[in-house]
Amino acid sequence: MSTAKTPVAILLSGRGSNATALITAAQDPDFPARICLVLSNNLDAPGLDMARAAGLPTLAIDHRSFGKDRAAHERAIHAALEDSGAQAVCLAGYMRLLTPYLTTAWAGRMLNIHPSLLPSFPGLHTHERALAAGVRLHGCTVHLVTEGMDEGPILGQAAVPVLPGDTPDLLAARVLQQEHGLYPLALRHFLTQNPATAPNGAALVVA
Ligand code: GRF
Repeated sequence: MSTAKTPVAILLSGRGSNATALITAAQDPDFPARICLVLSNNLDAPGLDMARAAGLPTLAIDHRSFGKDRAAHERAIHAALEDSGAQAVCLAGYMRLLTPYLTTAWAGRMLNIHPSLLPSFPGLHTHERALAAGVRLHGCTVHLVTEGMDEGPILGQAAVPVLPGDTPDLLAARVLQQEHGLYPLALRHFLTQNPATAPNGAALVVA
């Protein structure tokens, strides 16, 4: 039996491997989301090509054409999200800092995936920083987006071991593999709020 599907939009800036994981998951009739729009601030994002090839509606709203007017760019994004009918938004490698305008408009309905076990290593270069800090476990987090960067309530996490000889690239690849499993799990749980689908534990991989 198929589930009623919630329209969900994806925002991305680059390669879109997490978007691919969400799109693939949403192709399952029993997954509680359908992807109603894939939107990018970057006209050349490979993730947009991937979404087009998957037959999904796509849109690019280039931030550069708005100059320094971040608010105007976000108003255009918000309008496009509303037009798409999205009831929730997944940031998937969206590389723009959001202003309170967008975070308020989508409060409680916008998810992000971050490549660290938050609250450790918010921001950029997480894998380099994890190696420099000597942590033995690293991973990824899906969280709700709030005004503070990478600070919102945690919806799910997946951990990977840091192995001898790891480089940032090796560690990033190990984390990314977990991201692709975690994001669909976390979105499913967020949309259904079903304790049986809670990602914590299910996606946890501990050395
Ligand atoms: C991922 O590592 C994600 O955690 C971070 O940006 C990267 C995006 O990669 N927010 P992709 O575009 O999903 O492949």
